[in-house]
Amino acid sequence: MKQQLHLNLFINSRGHHEASWRHPEASPFALTDIRYYQDLARRAEAGLFDSIFLADQLALNDDVERAGRVWLEPITVLGALSVSTSRIGLISTASTTYSEPFNLARQFASLDHMSGGRAGWNIVTSWSARAARNYGDASQVSHADRYARAEEYLEVAKGLWDSWAADAVLDDRKDGQYARMDRIRPIDHKGACYDVAGPLNMPRCPQGRPVLVQAGSSDTGRRFAARHAEAVFTAHMEKATAQAFYADLKSLALEMGRPGDQIHILPGLSPMIGSTEAEAQRMSQELNDLADPEIGRKRLAGRFGGHDFSHLPLDTPLKPEDFPDPSTVEAARSRTELIVGLVRREGLTLRQLLSKMAGARGHFTFAGTPEQVADLMQDWFTDGASDGFNLMPPLLPKMLDVFIAEVVPLLQRRGLFRTAYEGQMLRDHFGLARPESRFG
Ligand SMILES: Cc1cc2nc3c(=O)[nH]c(=O)nc-3n(C[C@H](O)[C@H](O)[C@H](O)COP(=O)(O)O)c2cc1C
Repeated sequence: MKQQLHLNLFINSRGHHEASWRHPEASPFALTDIRYYQDLARRAEAGLFDSIFLADQLALNDDVERAGRVWLEPITVLGALSVSTSRIGLISTASTTYSEPFNLARQFASLDHMSGGRAGWNIVTSWSARAARNYGDASQVSHADRYARAEEYLEVAKGLWDSWAADAVLDDRKDGQYARMDRIRPIDHKGACYDVAGPLNMPRCPQGRPVLVQAGSSDTGRRFAARHAEAVFTAHMEKATAQAFYADLKSLALEMGRPGDQIHILPGLSPMIGSTEAEAQRMSQELNDLADPEIGRKRLAGRFGGHDFSHLPLDTPLKPEDFPDPSTVEAARSRTELIVGLVRREGLTLRQLLSKMAGARGHFTFAGTPEQVADLMQDWFTDGASDGFNLMPPLLPKMLDVFIAEVVPLLQRRGLFRTAYEGQMLRDHFGLARPESRFG
């Protein structure tokens, strides 16, 4: 029986609302200043969060003229955070489509060593057509091929992380023996996409391997998550779809022989918190008033693989036929299904849709008091919709601070959240088993 929920802080721009970067109360730091990330990570650690998470896109977005984002390469950032924090988990996105498994296995093993066992990898296959063009892949690898390649990628990466036994290093200065060669093995992988000899050029990392995180929601994405992921990020605009996703993924994981408590499902939650509901709504409105619908239109086009929405009027109700069929989209398929479903259900105008997406790009947004936020979290947690949340504050650091000061104590009083870190590693915070090494 699950007891306590898990909290991850998703750091994005100066908050998850599209207009957060220009809000007068947003962080004064430049988005290229490492102190911005250090500051947020320290706050989240003081709030006893399980982890922080940085997303990544491998291309410049075409809305750069009017949208401030996170720019720094995330694994590099987490390297810096590994020495300015001591307990919180550090999760970075990295792409299986546009990197070599040997490179990534090394980078995450290094981060795990440097942080004392706090690394996590959000495995993505990169949905952006714009990213494809930066890697000589003008026509973009298809959705199915990206996941097929990711399967083999994981086999190689796991093999590399297991290529040193935990006791391979002797570091015996007196006898002059650094390592035991019988405890280090090549992997000799030869597959359809990768040919990797191994072993990794580094001792086994503290967690055995980083915590594996995944965020694909399509059928193929879910199967991949059920096989490999230990935590799953997901976007829902209503509890019912979150419950359906939760039930489906847990049963898929069980089918694959994995216990349900070894895969945590963390839907996004973007709460605007005020001392009254009216105050929270006023703050949300203030951010919405700063958002530019033309930026939203461009982002929507990106989600649908570059589809042209420029002819659609802002104030006429949309129809599902205004969108390409999600099953034909080679980009982020699940998010396109979510958008078309919303249009079908609510008959929104483009302006209304864009304003919903501006809040947190299709994740659950909510404006209310600390009690209402805690009630909502408790309800999702106890009613089969989540094992915790991917917290996406609309405005940083302000809404993180309010969450930690006002909501965390309520969750603690209800016995739903830790009052101190118990372990050192991210696996300890998440209650995850250590992977078995093939050396036994
Ligand atoms: C919270 C969250 C964070 C994500 N972060 C990234 C990211 O940093 N980079 C990326 O390319 N995709 C990211 N994605 C997208 C997914 O990894 C996935 O590529 C996308 O949902 C398409 O896969 P699907 O078709 O299986 O749903 C994220 C999704 C979610 C829900």
